[in-house]
Amino acid sequence: MKVLTGIQPSGDLHIGNYFGSIKQMVEAQKENDTFAFIANYHAMSSGNGGKKLAELTMQTATDFLALGIDPQKSTFWVQSDVKEVLELYWILSAFTPMGLLERAHSYKDKIAKGIKANHSLFSYPVLMAADILIFGSEIIPVGKDQIQHVEIARDIAIKFNNEYGDILTIPEFKVQEEVATVPGIDGQKMSKSYGNIINIFGEEKAQMKTIKKIVTENVPMEDPKEYENCNVYNMAKLFLEGDNLIALQERYKKGGEGHGHFKIYLGEIMWEYFKDFREKREYYQAHQDEVREILIMGANKAKESAMPMIEKIRSVTGINY
Ligand code: ADP
Ligand code: TRP
Repeated sequence: MKVLTGIQPSGDLHIGNYFGSIKQMVEAQKENDTFAFIANYHAMSSGNGGKKLAELTMQTATDFLALGIDPQKSTFWVQSDVKEVLELYWILSAFTPMGLLERAHSYKDKIAKGIKANHSLFSYPVLMAADILIFGSEIIPVGKDQIQHVEIARDIAIKFNNEYGDILTIPEFKVQEEVATVPGIDGQKMSKSYGNIINIFGEEKAQMKTIKKIVTENVPMEDPKEYENCNVYNMAKLFLEGDNLIALQERYKKGGEGHGHFKIYLGEIMWEYFKDFREKREYYQAHQDEVREILIMGANKAKESAMPMIEKIRSVTGINY
């Protein structure tokens, strides 16, 4: 299967990104044709730019490699190194009804949160459709928030195919149900744009400070506590399996411990979980030239995969004259 994902270089990667998307992608590498890219054009739609964007692009690439994207197994590149995607974006725009974009939750949510709208934020699902369709991608592993964007890509592809025949592959999203939405420290969806994240690669002390801010119910220490709707538990369960998870549930049910104790535990298991990734990250941070080489190699591979599709599209749409 052709599996593709993109991630915006718009801030530190958080545990929602990891469990919602990166981990699935790393697992998919074992037996699929995997494509992973840094969506730097997309990041511009929420105001990122300049030197900061360039730095975040390298940082996100470094983090992706540290988290297990293997450039030998996956095609791994920076979006802007394959410019053909912008050409397809424009062509697909002609197959995108306004209403389709006006209904996009992510756009509506951002507006509701006071983020100023510009055209790129509005038309962003069309660029995402181009990212997906140019490679003939079949499976898109995403968090719940991105499902609608994949559906928009499907709608656009169907419209295009109705006009020009069976050219574009209709993609499908894949959501890991148990981690569909990782909560942020305020209990809302964890998101860089909402300022409620827990970084994957933060400093230990800062990490714990953030964890201490997780919103929890106010229950006296000695009382039993509910774990199902507890933000601390819902994060901790991402790092635990089997007996360890049951043991934590028992601690909630038993009472005698406060949420502060569970927060400390969460900090510890999280720190341990990302230990090997931190070491790998240090390596890549010290070898940024190697990261750049990997990205160039990946961009060449990605371009090679995209060319037959873009040529076919230029031909049927009459852009080749
Ligand atoms: P953010 O909302 O922080 O800007 P992105 O939109 O860059 O994150 O998301 C990158 C990937 O991570 C997407 O596949 C998205 O679905 C996934 N993701 C982001 N936040 C979460 C979350 N809280 N829970 C699960 N998956 C998430
Ligand atoms: N829109 C995605 C996000 O914010 C990032 C992205 C861009 C993407 N293009 C993509 C994800 C293509 C999957 C496939 O998370």
